[in-house]
Amino acid sequence: MKTKITKTISALVLAGSALLALPAANAYQAGDWIVRAGAAGVYPTGDGSIKGISGSKVEADSAWSLGINGTYMATDNFGIELLAAWPFTHDIKCKGSISALGTCAETKHLPPTLTAQYHFNTGPNWHPFLGIGLNYTYFFDEETKGDLKSAGGDLSLDSSWGLALEAGLDYEFSNNWLVGAQVYWMDIDTDATLKIKDLGFKSSGNEVSIDPWVYMISIGYKF
Ligand code: NI
Repeated sequence: MKTKITKTISALVLAGSALLALPAANAYQAGDWIVRAGAAGVYPTGDGSIKGISGSKVEADSAWSLGINGTYMATDNFGIELLAAWPFTHDIKCKGSISALGTCAETKHLPPTLTAQYHFNTGPNWHPFLGIGLNYTYFFDEETKGDLKSAGGDLSLDSSWGLALEAGLDYEFSNNWLVGAQVYWMDIDTDATLKIKDLGFKSSGNEVSIDPWVYMISIGYKF
């Protein structure tokens, strides 16, 4: 009986160690690269107005695009991430006293973002992290639309540098593959210049705040 119990226990211990030795993904380690690709959504929270048109308000709509980012783990806990994306195209809504213009412009932009991340060590599968860094947003292909376009409206937006904050969570589900969820807040502000040819109107230095929440859902791979 005693032998049988001993044998059973040894068998259990063996089975247990076999389980522990299974493809156990590790917490991220110094030297790891984590590359993610997925859907990224930019949700602006700010707005702006056009000097010289009292009561005017302009706001950028949300937009989704393809996001790609890569993290390099400099130590087991500290990583550096670069976020890149396919260009986003945002509608710009005219509101307030110029709300009759509706969707009065659109712009494309690229918002590359570099963050320093702290990764918490929570075992093999879940990888939560926080990051802080710098966003650069380059606006291009600004176009006026509708009545504003018909009146010879021309819009240009300056690029922006600002703070970026992020929180993220990767779930490593098998053999270095993971699903990731990240949220960023970015301080993006642009100076808008609006010219309207037919009215001989020009207004520059209009600060428009975008300050978006950026969400990204991705599939990733750890090298
Ligand atoms: Ni801002």
